[in-house]
Order: sequence, then structure tokens, then C-alpha cells
Amino acid sequence: MTDETPAQERALAFGRAARAYAAYRPDYPAAVFETLEELAGLRLAGARAADVGTGTGLAARALRERGAGVIGVEPGAGMAEQFRRELPDVPLIRGDGNRLPLADGSLDLVGYAQSWHWTDPARAVPSALRALRPGGALALWWNDPDASVPWVAEQEERIIARFGDGCYICDRTLPPQLPWRTRELRWSRRIPVDAHLAKLATHSAFIVHDGDGAAEFLAAEREHLLRRFPDGVLDEPYVSFVAVTVRPAAGG
Ligand SMILES: C[S@@+](CC[C@H](N)C(=O)[O-])C[C@H]1O[C@@H](n2cnc3c(N)ncnc32)[C@H](O)[C@@H]1O
Repeated sequence: MTDETPAQERALAFGRAARAYAAYRPDYPAAVFETLEELAGLRLAGARAADVGTGTGLAARALRERGAGVIGVEPGAGMAEQFRRELPDVPLIRGDGNRLPLADGSLDLVGYAQSWHWTDPARAVPSALRALRPGGALALWWNDPDASVPWVAEQEERIIARFGDGCYICDRTLPPQLPWRTRELRWSRRIPVDAHLAKLATHSAFIVHDGDGAAEFLAAEREHLLRRFPDGVLDEPYVSFVAVTVRPAAGG
């Protein structure tokens, strides 16, 4: 694509870091999918699901492991290529979450894992609801660094001071015209400082500033972190936010 706006360019920047994204972004914890089943009132086993903005397929893989029939939808070439390497037997459509290339009423679940904030909700909501059967669920979820932990909050301040918040803090505003059921889940993973930095580099703030201060920032961040975690290992804390709304049943 050559005629992208800056916002679209940022939204599709992940393709440039697709291999690192697959290697260093964390999987979603099992509790995310258990919560999703509970809030949506559906079983993933046997469900027909679309994972929109599927990227390298982190959520698609998890949905499939729980028995869902999954199709990935991804606009970006680089992410789509990585998805095909990761999940060669899962169908993938190149498409936009604002106008889903999916048949009306064909799905039990339409999920946007860490991708809703890249859409235009005025278009994405009707598109997603149209693809759902009555009673089917639209689910949005995010894994954000848990800024209630002091070192994460301090790091976040440094990132925002250097790059602005546009590419680091996800806008989790839910479309107000729909009734949402939501839940927050806190968890962490223990990883080497260098793996944490490699994960940080897969955020769009760092991808779009590659060659423009990202490497220097990460080197300085390494010093900060090694002072705090001298054995070179840290607990990387997350808060997963899950939001679900159900398409009203026909006549309901
Ligand atoms: C942070 S990544 C999330 C990838 C994956 N869902 C996950 O959970 O790791 C955001 C993804 O949204 C995709 N994206 C950007 N704009 C989009 C849009 N308008 N519709 C659907 N996906 C979009 C990007 O290409 C990228 O793959």
C-alpha cells in the first residue's frame, strides 16, 4: 500500500517487526479465554470464530487450541506472512476490521485481540455485528503492561516523554451504544531483561521510531532495568482487559 495516512501507516507498522512480535509478545493467559466464554455465554469448543487483526496469530492459536474453528483476518502483509508461518493450517483472509470480508450471520464469535484500537468503531461495530449470528459475541481484549506496578509506571512515563502516548497506551474506549460486560485480569511472566526489551521493541512506538532514537532509548532502558534487577531477570506484569457484547437475538 502506498497511499496510507500516518495513522494507517502506524496501524500497519507491526509487519516490520513480525518475527520479533511472534517471538517476544506474551501469549494470552488461559483466564482470558475462560472469561470470554463466561461473559459471552458460549463454549469455544465447536464455535465458529474470527480473530480480527490477528497479526501473528497469538489469539487464533489459543482459540483453536480450545476447539474453535478459527479464521484469521489481517490487513498487513508482514503480519499475514508471519501468521502463515506460525499457523499454516488456519485460514487467513487479508482484510480490514472496519469492513470484514465475512458472510452475514456466519459466526459465533468475532474477536479483536489487541487490535480494536486500530479500527474506526463507527464502521467496525456494524461490520462485526453483521458477521455474527443473533446471540453471537463481539469480544475485544488487550494485554497491557500493568502500570499499577511502580517500575512499569516509571518506564511508561519515560516512553511517553520520549515518543508520546499514541503508539504505546491502547485506547480501550468501548463503543457506548452497546452493553458491555468487562473484566480485568492481572498476571505476570518471568523473563530475562533482554527479552523484556525485545518485547518492548515490538510496540508500534518503537517500530515507527526505528532509526530515530528507539535503539538509544532501549539501551538506556537496559541500564535502568539492570540497576533494578541486577540478576538480569524480571517479572513482567500485565493486566488483561476483556470486554464482550452479544448481538441481540432476532426479535430480541
Ligand atoms: C498489536 S497487534 C495485535 C495482533 C494480534 N491480534 C495479537 O493479539 O497479538 C495489532 C494488529 O492489528 C492489525 N490492524 C491494524 N489496523 C487494523 C484494522 N483496521 N483492522 C484490523 N486489524 C488491524 C495490525 O496489522 C496488527 O496485526
